[in-house]
Amino acid sequence: MILQAKNIVKCYDNLSVLSGVSLSIEAGQTIAICGRSGEGKTTLLHILGTLEEPDSGEIELAGMRLSRSNAKELRNQQIGFIFQSYNLLEDFTALENVLMPARIARKQITRSMGLELLARVGLEHKCDVPAKVLSGGERQRVAIARALCNDPPLILADEPTGNLDRENGKKVGELLLQLNKALILVTHDAELAALCHTQSVLKDGKLI
Ligand SMILES: Nc1ncnc2c1ncn2[C@@H]1O[C@H](COP(=O)(O)OP(=O)(O)OP(=O)(O)O)[C@@H](O)[C@H]1O
Ligand SMILES: [Mg+2]
Repeated sequence: MILQAKNIVKCYDNLSVLSGVSLSIEAGQTIAICGRSGEGKTTLLHILGTLEEPDSGEIELAGMRLSRSNAKELRNQQIGFIFQSYNLLEDFTALENVLMPARIARKQITRSMGLELLARVGLEHKCDVPAKVLSGGERQRVAIARALCNDPPLILADEPTGNLDRENGKKVGELLLQLNKALILVTHDAELAALCHTQSVLKDGKLI
């Protein structure tokens, strides 16, 4: 089991967002999570990705119980995160953004590795362009290439095709599903969700 979450509860002030979500995913397994806007999908991914703490519940990543002291290291080694709002570093080029996880992990990296990742999302030609001048869809694809940088076993993707045209959306969806990695995919695209091994819906704070 690459990730196991048990009974995750999360409230913001008096808004209950997650009221006991359990989920587990094995290496290579793909899970689609759908649900209406505001149901807590991003919140759940942030918690699974160690970016936010739950009020209660437990998470195990790669067999290790998650804690404040190991969260950063585990995240860096195990998880590639594709954010709904991309979270690119605006003044850095597409290539620099893609290679950022390797820099953070102090890994040896080469320009050609980054270019290869950009080529996989059809953006090699934008390598030296700063993120701030890229279009929404281009940013989304840079974010996807960045998530693959450290070759993590688990990808958490928050509506990764939400800002792409049909053709690019299809390409990106296929790319994510062909990675042979564990993938938790939040999406509103029913066709893409249907291609995952498992489909679930987040509703009223529960995963069904
Ligand atoms: N930091 C925060 N403080 C207060 N409320 C928050 C915070 N983050 C999220 N929320 C609220 O929690 C609820 C769930 O938000 P979340 O972003 O997880 O929804 P979502 O399912 O991802 O929606 P969408 O499909 O629109 O992206 C929303 O009502 C949101 O306003
Ligand atoms: Mg969201």
